[in-house]
Amino acid sequence: MANDPIIRIRDLSVRYHVARTGAWLTAVRHVDLDVYEGEFLTVLGPSGCGKTTVLNCLAGLVAPTSGELAVDGRPVTGPGPERAVVFQDYALLPWRTVTDNVRFGLEMQPRLRAGADERIAEAIQLVGLAGFEHSYPRELSGGMQQRVGLARALVADPRILLMDEPLGAVDALTREVMRAELERIIAATGKTVVFITHGIDEAIQLGDRIAVFSSHPGTIKEIVPVDLPRPRSAHANTTAYQDLRHHLWKCLEADATAAAMGATE
Ligand SMILES: Nc1ncnc2c1ncn2[C@@H]1O[C@H](COP(=O)(O)OP(=O)(O)OP(=O)(O)O)[C@@H](O)[C@H]1O
Ligand SMILES: [Mg+2]
Repeated sequence: MANDPIIRIRDLSVRYHVARTGAWLTAVRHVDLDVYEGEFLTVLGPSGCGKTTVLNCLAGLVAPTSGELAVDGRPVTGPGPERAVVFQDYALLPWRTVTDNVRFGLEMQPRLRAGADERIAEAIQLVGLAGFEHSYPRELSGGMQQRVGLARALVADPRILLMDEPLGAVDALTREVMRAELERIIAATGKTVVFITHGIDEAIQLGDRIAVFSSHPGTIKEIVPVDLPRPRSAHANTTAYQDLRHHLWKCLEADATAAAMGATE
């Protein structure tokens, strides 16, 4: 990984204008981050620390207030076909079936029109939703809707997957299965992934490195490499795993305590 990073973020800050109060809120400040081709970067941090904001900047959906953001050496000015997003709130189209929601992931990409139906069927199969092709989002559970979002991101075979708590609404058992499946798919395809999670174990099990965010305002507190063999779940009882877990917990704890006590900027 001595090459140039595929994602490069320098001194990124984002401020939001809060219409209700008329005030400005600094969501993230001074974020520096490099992500390398084929790397799986997990992002861990307390609620409200700006994880989604950074991901949305990478997706080209939120414009930075200041700083630099480049993918493959080109400044990010909007969404692009090499980046696909799995949104925290699924962001499905309620009037479309599962198949047509997944199709949406191909619609901006004329080069993928040939063989679209097969690609869609494969993606639906991959996330375990075969049999629900003609269902509407309202007929699906939260976890199933999240899997539709995942299929929509995977269908166009992007180089970079930006995933915002993609397993958050899935039950514990399904999460285990999907996590392993995701790990397998990503290892096989060599995709670069930025994956937000609230789960310390999920961050360890999936990540090559873990970016730990702190809040008030959000910034990266530490980037921790995970030097454990895969599958990580098989090493969960080792001292190295437990030490890493403890370290991450300590990193997050100070912030969580501050947040619970209502700390502000
Ligand atoms: N469009 C917006 N307008 C105003 N403030 C916003 C907007 N989006 C996010 N914020 C604020 O920016 C901060 C960071 O939000 P963000 O959604 O990035 O956090 P997060 O780390 O993803 O949180 P969570 O873990 O709960 O998803 C929060 O204080 C939030 O209230
Ligand atoms: Mg979020």
